[in-house]
Amino acid sequence: MSLQIYLAGKLVPQEQAVVSVFDHGLLYGDGVFEGIRVYGGKVFLEKEHIVRLYESAHSIRLQIPITPDEMIQAVRDTVAANNIVDGYVRLVVTRGAGTLGIDPARTSNPQVIIIADTISLYPKEFYDNGLKLVTASTIRNHSGALSPRIKSLNYLNNIMAKIEGADAGTVEALMLNHKGEVAECTGDNIFIVKGGVLKTPPPDAGILEGLTRNAVMKLARDAGIEVREAPMVRHDIFIADECFLTGTAAEVIAVVSLDGRTIGSGKPGPVTAKLLDLFRQRTRA
Ligand SMILES: Cc1ncc(COP(=O)(O)O)c(C=O)c1O
Repeated sequence: MSLQIYLAGKLVPQEQAVVSVFDHGLLYGDGVFEGIRVYGGKVFLEKEHIVRLYESAHSIRLQIPITPDEMIQAVRDTVAANNIVDGYVRLVVTRGAGTLGIDPARTSNPQVIIIADTISLYPKEFYDNGLKLVTASTIRNHSGALSPRIKSLNYLNNIMAKIEGADAGTVEALMLNHKGEVAECTGDNIFIVKGGVLKTPPPDAGILEGLTRNAVMKLARDAGIEVREAPMVRHDIFIADECFLTGTAAEVIAVVSLDGRTIGSGKPGPVTAKLLDLFRQRTRA
């Protein structure tokens, strides 16, 4: 079945949803995006995703051609047109078509693209058994070059890290920052539990401030768990009681080893299980 894609202000069948080969989103990765979940027909953390999208665009000096309210409506319309009850929305804004040169001033018509589809999730055994991770040699963006807080179409270093993970037989890979501290994974934020305290790297460790990360920190605090944003190194993960990742697609998933070191009991731990349960209650309410 052909999907209905939102492009240039209207819904069109996916075969007709085409953009120019001169679009700088394609030529230079010049643009921003969001990945959003739909649960029970409702767009999860709708406002937060739209705020992050417009903040990313503002930071790269990209003027999105529609207002945030129009964007929210366009996302909802695309979800409804494709009868998505539980699924995923990919929202992309490109710089638009220009010349073959890099100059954004010579581009026009930023493209707003919204794709609403079903989602393929990690298999259940990944949640039951937890993931193994390796540390990639490719580091996360230096924020002096491109802030990782911008969700831009430039994901090449994360892709390089993902390939390193795949070479080592893992589905995710840990990325460090330029100081050698833990930043995040290629598409997920990372948490540890140590002595009952939940810890995660702060935004200035060079991370995308994940919306699932924020939601999980709030759920934890509401459940009386102490949460600290603090710089950490690999050693902190090796000696943690528990470790887990958060992300729009993965939700909350345990990590049971890093670079051949078993974390905690080597099985998903109780705090991880509790937070996954609370997150599922929150999203499936
Ligand atoms: C690099 C990176 N970190 C973290 C995340 C998790 O963010 P969120 O919870 O908003 O999906 C993502 C996913 O979009 C990501 O691409």
